[in-house]
Amino acid sequence: MTNDPYTLAGEAAAALKAAAGLDTFDVALVMGSGWVPAADAIGATVAEIPFTDLPGFSAPAVAGHGGKIRVIRTDGGRHALVFLGRSHLYEGRGVDSVVHGVRTAAAAGVRTVVLTNAAGGLRPETQKVGDPVLISDHINLTGVNPITGTTFLDLTEVYSKRLRELVREIDPSLDEGVYVAFRGPTYETPAEIRMLRTLGGDMIGMSTVLEAIAAREAGLDVLGVSLVTNPGAGLAGDPLDHEEVLEVGRATATRMGELLAKVVDRL
Ligand code: HPA
Repeated sequence: MTNDPYTLAGEAAAALKAAAGLDTFDVALVMGSGWVPAADAIGATVAEIPFTDLPGFSAPAVAGHGGKIRVIRTDGGRHALVFLGRSHLYEGRGVDSVVHGVRTAAAAGVRTVVLTNAAGGLRPETQKVGDPVLISDHINLTGVNPITGTTFLDLTEVYSKRLRELVREIDPSLDEGVYVAFRGPTYETPAEIRMLRTLGGDMIGMSTVLEAIAAREAGLDVLGVSLVTNPGAGLAGDPLDHEEVLEVGRATATRMGELLAKVVDRL
């Protein structure tokens, strides 16, 4: 097996096409914690391929992350790669592992990637638990970057304005905000949450930013959506709990699934 992450993604894409019996795909969706129950609404399942069948993937460690790629045909006839689970930096497999799914999707022909996540809300004044928020921009505080070398990639518009406008045509009630990523796996301290509010963050999580950078490097359009599953630590007084994050996802699955299904057919 190759050591080069881009070559490895090409090999995974070839294996994925063979397993799905398809030559190309239109869109990839990465389902974060809380979003997996929404996947059922996107369309009809054509194939399900466990991550472990494809070069460079490993089974995710987190409860609520399924660990397979579902190939879906939407009502409108599009083919979507739905990643049920993702690799996180805190799992310790390195940044190439975190972005391998996005690179594989790009190598398989996808032009658009939808990155979803569960996030703590930094603005409880205006955000409700269970609300989806469009990601307008990010602050990468993970300390790493998926690109090595002298590719000085422009990140002026990581999250496509056109795609955000398209989603708002479907649901005008959606707010947008700046997503901040920490490495995790600890949740934040109340002092960190206060700092992030001062820095201009609106949501806090442990994923998405590295995948978004890798997607832009590959020339993909990126749509990012956070599901606010809890107020950031210290903003509501209650301790944070991963089970609560998953429960909010289960409770909002129908709304999230219908939203994604409509988005995918209008891309
Ligand atoms: N912090 C970081 N990640 C998260 C949170 C949070 O409060 N909620 C869901 N994912």
